[in-house]
Amino acid sequence: MRILSGIQPSGEQHLGNYFGAIEQHLKLQSEGDALYFIADYHALTSVHDAAKIREMTIDVAAIYLALGLDPKTATFFRQSDVPEVTELTWLLSVVTGMGLLERAHSYKDKIAHNISPSVGLFTYPALMAADILIYKSDLVPVGQDQVQHVEITQDMAQSFNAAFKKEVFLRPESRLSATPKVPGTDGAKMSKSYNNTIPIFARGKRLKKIVGAIPTDSKDFTKEPLDPSTCKVFALYELFATAEEKAAMRDKYENDRAFGYGHAKQALMAKIEEKFGAAADRYEALKAKPAEIEDILRAGAGRARALARATVDEAREAVGLGKMLV
Ligand code: ADP
Ligand code: TRP
Repeated sequence: MRILSGIQPSGEQHLGNYFGAIEQHLKLQSEGDALYFIADYHALTSVHDAAKIREMTIDVAAIYLALGLDPKTATFFRQSDVPEVTELTWLLSVVTGMGLLERAHSYKDKIAHNISPSVGLFTYPALMAADILIYKSDLVPVGQDQVQHVEITQDMAQSFNAAFKKEVFLRPESRLSATPKVPGTDGAKMSKSYNNTIPIFARGKRLKKIVGAIPTDSKDFTKEPLDPSTCKVFALYELFATAEEKAAMRDKYENDRAFGYGHAKQALMAKIEEKFGAAADRYEALKAKPAEIEDILRAGAGRARALARATVDEAREAVGLGKMLV
C-alpha cells in the first residue's frame, strides 16, 4: 500500500496540525510505503518571499523529523525537487472541467475572504491531484479540509483514464485522523487564521501564558460542580488523556470542590510538555543543522523522482506526446 501526504510549510505547527494530520502521518509510516513531502510549490500560492519559503521548508522538515518521521522508513522530500508534478498538472488540467475546480470549498472560502485569486490558487487542487497520482498513491491521510481535494483527484484520475482509454491512474482514498477537528483556545476550530492556536513546541512561560488565557466560565468551584462538557480546557486535555485519565478528570470537575480551572490548566500544560518536551529539544538541535535536513530531503527526492518520472512517461505516452529524450 502506498501512502502519500503533503505538508504546507506554513509557520508554526499547532495542536490542530498535530492531532489532525501529523500524528496520523507518523503512525502510517510503518504501515506501508509512505511518501511525505513539503508542499513548497503549493505554498507559493500564498507566500512570495524566497527567504521565507526556504526557511519554512527547513522548519517544517525539522518539526516532522523531531516528532519521529524516520527518513529510513518513509520517503521524505521537497515537492519542488520533483518538477515532474508540474508537468503532470498540465496533463490533468486538460481533462478537468472548470466547474470541478470552481466547486472547491477551500478556493471558495478564500474568495469569500476577499483574497484576490491567482490562476495558481485556482488550479491548486490540480497540482495536489498530480502529487497524489504521480506516485500511484492508495491512501492519502489528510485533515477534514483536504478531503474534497482528494475527491477532486478521484474525478481527475477517472477523467484522464476515460479520455485516453488507458488505466494510467489509480483511485486514491483519503483517511481522516480520529480527531479531524481539534478545538482552539476559544472553542472554534484551531487554526493559524483564528489566532487560537497552541503551538506544539510552546513551553514554560510562553505555554503558561497561552493556556492561562483560555477562557472559562465564572462558576465558583468551591461551591458548585464544574461542567467538563462545555470546558475548553477539558476539550484540549482529552486529546492527550487515556480513557481512565479522562474519567478521573471528569470526576474532579464534578465532585472535587478543591479543584478549579487553574488546576485543569496545570494538568493540560503538564500533558503538553510531557508529550512534546523531548521532541522540542530534538527540534532545536535539528534546526542548528540545516545541511543535514537538506541531505535527508535530497535523498528522498531521488527516490520520489524516479517513481514520478515513470508515471509521467506513461501519461505522456497515453496522451500521444513523444518520449522524453533525456
Ligand atoms: P491552519 O488552519 O492553521 O492554517 P493548515 O491549513 O496549514 O492549518 O493545516 C495543515 C494540516 O493540519 C491539514 O491537514 C489540516 O487538515 C490539519 N489541521 C489544521 N487545523 C486542524 C484542526 N483544528 N483540527 C484538525 N486538523 C487540523
Ligand atoms: N493541500 C494540502 C494542505 O494544505 C497539502 C498538500 C499538497 C497535500 N499536496 C498534497 C496533501 C497531496 C495530501 C496530498 O494541507
